Amino acid sequence: MSLNRKLDKILIIDFGSQFTQLIARRIREFGVFCEIVSHKKIKIKNIDHSIKGLILSGGPLNVYQINKYSFDKRIIEKQIPILGICFGHQILSKLNGGKVKQSKYREFGLANIYKKKESILIKNFFNNKKINKVWMSHADQVSKLPKYFNVIASSQNSKYAIIENRSKKFYGVQFHPEVTHTQNGKRLIHNFIFLICKIKKNWSSKDQKNQLIKEVRETVKNNKVICALSGGVDSSVVAQLLNKAIGKKLYCIFVNTGLLRKNEETQVVKTFKRKLKINLIYVNAEKEFIRKLKNISDPEKKRKIIGNLFIKIFERYAKRIKGVKFLAQGTLYPDLIESRSVTGSQTSKIKSHHNVGGLPKKMKLKLVEPLRFLFKDEVRKLGLELNLSKEIISRHPFPGPGLAIRIPGIITHEKIKILKEADYYFIKSLKEQNLYNKIWQAYAALLPVKTVGVMGDNRTYEYLCLLRAITSEDGMTADFFDFKKTFIQMISNKIVNSIRGINRVVYDVTSKPPSTIELE
Ligand code: XMP
Repeated sequence: MSLNRKLDKILIIDFGSQFTQLIARRIREFGVFCEIVSHKKIKIKNIDHSIKGLILSGGPLNVYQINKYSFDKRIIEKQIPILGICFGHQILSKLNGGKVKQSKYREFGLANIYKKKESILIKNFFNNKKINKVWMSHADQVSKLPKYFNVIASSQNSKYAIIENRSKKFYGVQFHPEVTHTQNGKRLIHNFIFLICKIKKNWSSKDQKNQLIKEVRETVKNNKVICALSGGVDSSVVAQLLNKAIGKKLYCIFVNTGLLRKNEETQVVKTFKRKLKINLIYVNAEKEFIRKLKNISDPEKKRKIIGNLFIKIFERYAKRIKGVKFLAQGTLYPDLIESRSVTGSQTSKIKSHHNVGGLPKKMKLKLVEPLRFLFKDEVRKLGLELNLSKEIISRHPFPGPGLAIRIPGIITHEKIKILKEADYYFIKSLKEQNLYNKIWQAYAALLPVKTVGVMGDNRTYEYLCLLRAITSEDGMTADFFDFKKTFIQMISNKIVNSIRGINRVVYDVTSKPPSTIELE
């Protein structure tokens, strides 16, 4: 487990709550650095002077079931202010001599809490009233108050809804202040970090940019770095950050798989090579990819072929640059959070996602992952600070296997050509109608069926184009975007009238789950 030791921080100990990342978001929104670490990984030696406050998250566990080795009790004896949330509140109470048991009534959803006593934690939280609405989600509760604690607020079912030990600066809340449903929840977190932990603001995109540039220089020194540039947001930001930090010691490799969107390769070369003056090695591997994919229709086989070939080509070109010591990657914080297995992401088991991440193991390069402490929207802000265009920064995600997984069945030159055009018209229209930024991801796909149509007086027999546009928080779940009929009508006409090979357009109205975002 590695924490960023240079910055003062609030440390969130995660017990597997679905809201842990939200706690981190709230704190960073206040301009304060924080990190998340799993309760299984945290060690007493990790608790150093940079940690100004601890937050114990909620979680699906029961305090009375928790394995005593999975959380080192000495952590709470370090004289650092602590805020326990839900399960965190229960474990904090237990460790201080309180008792926890199953509640008679479970509390899920909104509940009223009633103020019993003043506390610095609840300054402006109750808005001059005695009652506030909070979001509860628990089946257990603290049944005996730990010694030296006071009750600050109670709900009908939780007598100890907010408790404090003022001298130790220990606070426990049975509800979730990090979710928006809790009225003034942010205020409570604000009070904890600024009034109780007394941490100073240390996290803005500008400071972040300068600090990251400094760190990259210190890590890389005089060595060369390679980076796989895809043109997506994360790899673009990494490339530009390294460009600012080490200039010509950075070598970006951009592989044109032939499965990119229309004009993508031209745009990447124009932006990164010509405008930003990055050492860019452009590899045109279109023919190699299409040859390897010939007659392959199985989605998993396609993904494997593309992933492996990508690595092979990347290695081939990387080896030509002599003396490379580092590989830069656009790994983000959510990819790293150690508690992921606790919260459980299933996506990678459903599809073997291909990312440039992890490349290339055989070359034994050291990794530079400057975005590893950032969330996606922080990466976007950083990109703007680095003078990347809004167009690059607000791009929709694009999968590593590219258009191959948007052409179910066998892939041919003809199909790719048709699909590139359809996708181009769709995305262009979304931008023209100011819809692009309201949508998390949109694309066109070409289905492997031909249907009959009529154009003029002639019969046509052409492919079916599927349009998909979704809204989402993080790609884990998604809903289809609710277009107006006029837009759907316009884009359908445009595609069918402009592209030979498509005579019918359908719009995908499934959510994820049960569907996935991509077709394969
Ligand atoms: P699914 O289809 O699994 O997609 O619902 C979720 C998100 O992941 C993207 N995606 C990929 N991204 N390599 C990537 O880098 C991949 O192999 C891959 N497959 C899917 C997809 O576009 C969506 O944003």
